[in-house]
Amino acid sequence: MENKSLLPQTEEPTPQRPAPPKYTTRFHGVLLALVLAGFWLASSWTCGHEHMHQETSSKVPLEIHIMSKCPDARDCIEKLVVPAMANVSEKVDFKLSFIGKTTDDDGVICKHGQTECLGNILELCAASEYPDPKIYLGFTRCLVQRYEEIPATSLIKDCALEYGIEFEKLNDCASRDDGAYGMGMLRDSVTRSSELGVSTSCTVRLDGKTRCVRDGGKWRDCEGGSEPEDLVSDIEKLFDETRGRTE
Ligand SMILES: *[C@@H]1O[C@H](CO)[C@@H](O)[C@H](O)[C@H]1NC(C)=O
Repeated sequence: MENKSLLPQTEEPTPQRPAPPKYTTRFHGVLLALVLAGFWLASSWTCGHEHMHQETSSKVPLEIHIMSKCPDARDCIEKLVVPAMANVSEKVDFKLSFIGKTTDDDGVICKHGQTECLGNILELCAASEYPDPKIYLGFTRCLVQRYEEIPATSLIKDCALEYGIEFEKLNDCASRDDGAYGMGMLRDSVTRSSELGVSTSCTVRLDGKTRCVRDGGKWRDCEGGSEPEDLVSDIEKLFDETRGRTE
């Protein structure tokens, strides 16, 4: 099958990990120096964003917890999250998280099967390769609109093209370290959701609190309303409050 190249080991037993190369102590020292220099450069060099820290700190955390092959995730993204983000994305610190169960052998079980896990990994790869939510949220919305087709290569390519994502970058990310890299991101993500007590796709959390849940084709727990305008006005209120404290 064409899509097999994305995550070659899904159906086979975990391959033997190669033994780590034996670096000399001197090599370790050089490596450490390079890493420290990298940190120093990264922390001391910015490019025209003098107020970046303040802007970042006053953004309002908005997080959605989904499964890639879930119709409630489709509705929630389509009807609420994307229309709201279209108006206030610059005031939001957005995060995309997934729901699943971790296994004892470094894997994840997804409710709609391994193809859903692969869809989740591709969406996490989009987010890690293209951190702008306008890009990876758009890509995620595009995939979930045709969720039955996940993980068909034709769908991934269509959606990647629509949002200016290089398919090769996604493919490399999903296959990195025989898939262990993407699986690690998915494990971290589902662990985060379960530690937050979130188990329903789609759960929308605003400023650390559940704001709205789409479940079985209906909204619930949406105190303050489930229209995009309601979410937008909550975000603006929270943003202005945080601003008020820093000014
Ligand atoms: C987004 O902004 C436009 C223009 O100000 C407005 O007409 C629209 O209702 C807003 N949508 C939301 C979801 O707030």
